[in-house]
Amino acid sequence: MAQEDVFKKLVSHCKEYGFVFPSSDIYDGLGAVYDYGQMGVELKNNIKKYWWDSMVLLHENIVGIDSAIFMHPTIWKASGHVDAFNDPLIDNKDSKKRYRADVLIEDQLAKYDDKINKEVAKAAKRFGEAFDEAQFRSTNGRVLEHQAKRDALHERFAKALNDNNLEELRQIIVDEEIACPISGTKNWTEVRQFNLMFSTEMGSTADGSMKIYLRPETAQGIFVNYLNVKTGRMKVPFGIAQIGKAFRNEIVARQFIFRMREFEQMEMQFFVRPGSELEYFKKWKEIRLKWHKALGFGDDHYRFHDHDKLAHYANAATDIEFLMPFGFKEVEGIHSRTNFDLSQHEKFSGKSIKYFDPELNESYTPYVIETSIGVDRMFLSIMSAAYCEEQLENGESRVVLKLPAALAPVKLAVMPLVKKDGLPEKAREIIDNLKFHFHCQYDEKDSIGKRYRRQDAIGTPYCVTVDHQTLEDNCVTLRNRDTMEQERVAISELNNIIADRVSITSLLKTIQ
Ligand code: GAP
Repeated sequence: MAQEDVFKKLVSHCKEYGFVFPSSDIYDGLGAVYDYGQMGVELKNNIKKYWWDSMVLLHENIVGIDSAIFMHPTIWKASGHVDAFNDPLIDNKDSKKRYRADVLIEDQLAKYDDKINKEVAKAAKRFGEAFDEAQFRSTNGRVLEHQAKRDALHERFAKALNDNNLEELRQIIVDEEIACPISGTKNWTEVRQFNLMFSTEMGSTADGSMKIYLRPETAQGIFVNYLNVKTGRMKVPFGIAQIGKAFRNEIVARQFIFRMREFEQMEMQFFVRPGSELEYFKKWKEIRLKWHKALGFGDDHYRFHDHDKLAHYANAATDIEFLMPFGFKEVEGIHSRTNFDLSQHEKFSGKSIKYFDPELNESYTPYVIETSIGVDRMFLSIMSAAYCEEQLENGESRVVLKLPAALAPVKLAVMPLVKKDGLPEKAREIIDNLKFHFHCQYDEKDSIGKRYRRQDAIGTPYCVTVDHQTLEDNCVTLRNRDTMEQERVAISELNNIIADRVSITSLLKTIQ
């Protein structure tokens, strides 16, 4: 099945099974805003818990905060967001559709990559085991031609971004003959900058109200609380973690919950001695990749993408990209932000934000390594890797979400084989014992086969069936979602067997 079709199916699956709904659905939705349903909220909470615990439980020098969404407007002046939190936009005059100029060019780069990969795949098939990929890539005429075009485009694009040269961005689009996917024409406007922050008014005094912004990132809430947390006896190096909503008036909102106007971030700022930041940057890259890989989707689903355009205050930046149905896409950013943010807040607030380092006997403004991941994007990456359509031996098919058990919304479904003879009561008894340990669901409607399918579709890792024999021997049938294998186990053993396999603690133990 084409990846686009898989994606469409995933979106409708999310709606049908209570994972994600368009916001204000009965009013036909609101652009790029989504609600999480009864299953989605559980998965989302589990993702957040996995991240939070990996930060504040596994690192004794990281603490959490929860800062307000409304913040003093000068913060956004100091951070540079008022003046420079812009995207370069371009309109197609025929379709009237608006695009991010940089994204159009990035898509063009990806097309060259696709062409190269197709040549390699074709050759690999032709030569079989004798195929030497490295040699083919460095000698094949067509591959070299595509690679040369890609490299030239890449260099030109990086320079235009670094120089903030909007005319050049437009010229690249023209020279590459990039067409609007809707109208198919190359009839483009100029490229303009567009500020992504939402603003609103606070208060209504005689002097008027104050313009404030909905925060476009949670990070600034951490920076402006640095002094408060530091007085809680934290010593450099230390980190502050936060999970919270962020808002951006995205020009091109697309790909479902990949790019939203209201979304949630999990950010951690790690404060270090000046000069040690690149060592910590490397360390955090490793820690974060390990966190992702522990979910078990396969190492080939991840790659780093180092930034071509470094913000003027950053001295290193990379993205962790995940293989989504629409290609490798950023899920998390790791940035070495120097002491820019703290210095700016020192300047704009007039308060000293220096740290006295007793070991060095000197004061300095700490440097910062930031790890920043979108909850919704993480959610999408997990759902798209977990979604599977399987053909079964008996000729039937099933849709199964192969979610990591620790993140699954429901861990265990308990089903009486029939709705009588005391089996429902026995099933309820099992749930009453286990519900304190993990999320259980009771289901007695329809045939057992249909009930299994329903649980597969929401990713429940285990199902328990209570039958007449259970009343005699206190044993139940335990079915594994992925293998569909069934085993007979004692009810008294259920908690022992399942708890470990579905707990976030077990997942955390694999990455500590
Ligand atoms: N404090 C740094 C920062 O905000 P960013 O790269 O702009 O960096 C970090 O955002 C992460 O937030 C991204 O990797 C992505 O996962 C998520 N994110 C950013 N914009 C988003 C949007 N419009 N919708 C959903 N997630 C978004």
